[in-house]
Amino acid sequence: MYTSAPTDANAQEKRKAWTVPMLADAKRDGRRLVMLTAYDAGFARTMDAAGIDVVLVGDSLGMVVQGHNSTLPVATADIVYHTACVARGLSKALLVADLPFQSDATPERALDAATALLQAGAAMVKIEGAGHKLDVIRFLVEREIPVCAHLGLTPQSVLRLGGYKLQGRDDVTANKLRGDARAVAQAGAALLVLECVPTGLAGAITADLAIPTIGIGAGPHCDGQVLVLHDLLGVNSGHRRPKFVKDFLAQGGSVEGAFRAYADDVRSGAFPDASHSYD
Ligand code: KIV
Repeated sequence: MYTSAPTDANAQEKRKAWTVPMLADAKRDGRRLVMLTAYDAGFARTMDAAGIDVVLVGDSLGMVVQGHNSTLPVATADIVYHTACVARGLSKALLVADLPFQSDATPERALDAATALLQAGAAMVKIEGAGHKLDVIRFLVEREIPVCAHLGLTPQSVLRLGGYKLQGRDDVTANKLRGDARAVAQAGAALLVLECVPTGLAGAITADLAIPTIGIGAGPHCDGQVLVLHDLLGVNSGHRRPKFVKDFLAQGGSVEGAFRAYADDVRSGAFPDASHSYD
């Protein structure tokens, strides 16, 4: 049984509830952010008890909960429902919810969807991509909706990308990614997820930006890490397991222990190592 972190209720009580400005404080203080996806209240409550900092209701739910082979079929109503479930389980972690495919196609559509997600309990919405999404990010941030950007492998672009592949491998695409990262930060994003990006490039982007970066398959130099719940627990969701995924259940000995083991390894820098990253 994994017991390195305090388990008593007092320790849990003493932790402050996360707010959006605290994300930038963490980067400034050099504290790594620990993020996980959740889709229901029970897992959310267990993550909160284990000291997970940020919980994401990802549109990955289309693949790991609904059984689709991409995130494209996910509707805003699905994310709203799961966000409300997860919100009931959290008292400390910051709750982020995805804007699903095409719900952010225009600023006005995004405002409607993001408002519903904040009213369901999210503190921030996540938007994939840059380009025309920069206007969407600006529009939401000007209307008091905190935004997390998502660059690199953006799963909603799977048809254009031709699969779930490492991004930014050559100079042209790496420079484009660096420019997009600066642009989403300038547009007002307060957090940036980098998915499936070579370690050196993710490190350079992280050093470039004042906002924290959260890596998934982006190496150890990001300001934090995120994993999909099912991947961390080794649940077979019917999809190929990418190289960056690690099953923490054996190490942790229980679901809460797995969350604590993951959090400890992210905070100490032990995860991800080279075997869970791309050169
Ligand atoms: O949908 C999701 O779960 C995500 C994470 C993989 C970052 O976007």
